[in-house]
Amino acid sequence: LVSAISLFGAKYVVGTSADFPPFEYVQNGEFMGFDIDLIKAIAAEMGFEIEIRDMSFDSLIAALVSGNLDIVISGMTITAERAEVVSFSKPYWTADQSVVVREDSDLTVTVLFGKHSIGVQTGTTGDIWVEDNLVTTKILTGDFKRYETYTLAMTDLINRNLDAIVLDSPVAQSFASVRPVKIVAILKTYEDYGIAVNKANKALLDLINEGIRRLESSGKLAELNLKHF
Ligand code: ARG
Repeated sequence: LVSAISLFGAKYVVGTSADFPPFEYVQNGEFMGFDIDLIKAIAAEMGFEIEIRDMSFDSLIAALVSGNLDIVISGMTITAERAEVVSFSKPYWTADQSVVVREDSDLTVTVLFGKHSIGVQTGTTGDIWVEDNLVTTKILTGDFKRYETYTLAMTDLINRNLDAIVLDSPVAQSFASVRPVKIVAILKTYEDYGIAVNKANKALLDLINEGIRRLESSGKLAELNLKHF
């Protein structure tokens, strides 16, 4: 109770990589998306302020650890490796990976084999999946390209500088609905998304978990789902 009182009204810096619709993106200079609405709703529910900062996905965990960020919400998958350095909230979403090619492409899931070029966002679970399953095994012998954002990877795919992108399924669907790309395979990776905080910040983690619980039981979380998916 004492820690809850002292956290009330505090202001936290929230990091995200705003290249990941419909979870986080920038529209008319504003941060939008499911994650953005979720963290705003948790903050309103639990009585704290937030300031959102856009960063490359690959630098989010280091920024939490060094104290430059208080919270990360970025469609971030809870993995054992990440959970060694930061604390995760209870899961708020489940996703798989998808393989995306240009709409006019004849390529299928075979794009993952042989001399094709695959793009990912640096430091994501898609990056790790391709590295571990295709690159180190030499199943993929073409270029493996890492991008700072999925937006840049999409541009390269559409400009024919890439054969395929591997990224989270809901985000692949979102890109496919507005850009000339299509999903040719789903990789069942069963990833849970969590909100991350510094390991030392147990009180903030409790606050976030309580916020998620309240939004679940009030139906607000279901409303956010309907709004964004
Ligand atoms: N879920 C994947 C991961 O945790 C990708 C997240 C990418 N998020 C983003 N906002 N670009 O590695």
